[in-house]
Amino acid sequence: MDNVRKIAVVGATGAVGEVMLSILAERGHQAADISALASERSAGKEVEFGDRRLITKDLADFNFAGIDYALFSAGGSVSERYAPIAAGSGAVVIDNTSAFRYVDDIPLVVPEVNPHHLDGVGPGSIVANPNCSTIQMLVALAPIQREAGIDRINVATYQSVSGAGAEALRELAEQTIARLSFKEPVLNKFAQPIAFNVLPQIDTLQDNGYSREEMKMVWETQKIFEDPSIRVNATAVRVPVFYGHSEAVHLETRDDIAMERVRELLGNAEGVVVVDGEDMMHPTAVTHGAGEDPVYVGRLRRDISHPRGINMWVVADNIRKGAALNAVQIMERLERSKV
Ligand code: A2P
Repeated sequence: MDNVRKIAVVGATGAVGEVMLSILAERGHQAADISALASERSAGKEVEFGDRRLITKDLADFNFAGIDYALFSAGGSVSERYAPIAAGSGAVVIDNTSAFRYVDDIPLVVPEVNPHHLDGVGPGSIVANPNCSTIQMLVALAPIQREAGIDRINVATYQSVSGAGAEALRELAEQTIARLSFKEPVLNKFAQPIAFNVLPQIDTLQDNGYSREEMKMVWETQKIFEDPSIRVNATAVRVPVFYGHSEAVHLETRDDIAMERVRELLGNAEGVVVVDGEDMMHPTAVTHGAGEDPVYVGRLRRDISHPRGINMWVVADNIRKGAALNAVQIMERLERSKV
């Protein structure tokens, strides 16, 4: 893309914003074209932009006139309030929160999966970035969905704490130090200790007993695949990992498909790397997820309990592909579609 677009990063001091800035710097954008925005608390604070530094500005005072793309990652209530203002000034808003994901005429996009949903998006539009767990699962499942159709998905997630933000990362580090020093862990972001523990609830519990994080995977899969008949059953779990989400995905296809064909499809799929697990080297959050762009698929095998069942283990960096990178890729697709 031509790199002279003016870009505002909203939530620049946060876990996702920090990585957005580093991806934009890696891709050759110039510091002068980037506005780093956060709350009043951070106004004047410096954030890294490659080997440069940007001064953070207060979102509340910012004038979006002249901004081409506004990448929001400062929480749902901030997006609800400011994304319409940015769009009203002519920016394309790419929103990482769940504020607009379920609005019918707002596209919810994973570029490898449903790029056609960006048709018609232009200045003044809002595009929603899906939930991190949905993104990596659908990048891995899209080739199978296209060829054989998917009837049902059962998924258990193993989600890292970076998905809960910068404060949560500190909490995991501090609780780990406390435990190793035989002290009681202090709770802040998480209701129960996260260090050396596994928490089976992410986001609020709904009336149906599922957490909102789990229901996001249901709603978003159906919207992105444009198929409300796909059945999704999720259990979302927080694990004491800093970066990188892992998922045990079990799916049932509508049509028969041979495992060799599944391997071939995934081997050729955009954004996917299949790891065969030789010498016990499987994709993991630490060895493959953190800091990497692709979605890694391992433990690929036929489900012995179902004739059209497939099992896989899916790993990606939740902050990169699950958020910041996906948003930047949406922006790049929009730019490419102009030429
Ligand atoms: P700040 O550091 O000034 O609070 P994370 O997801 O890692 O918790 O980060 C949240 C991001 O959202 C931070 O950059 C944070 O900025 C920003 N943010 C939170 N509340 C607001 C707000 N009211 N206005 C602008 N930015 C906000």
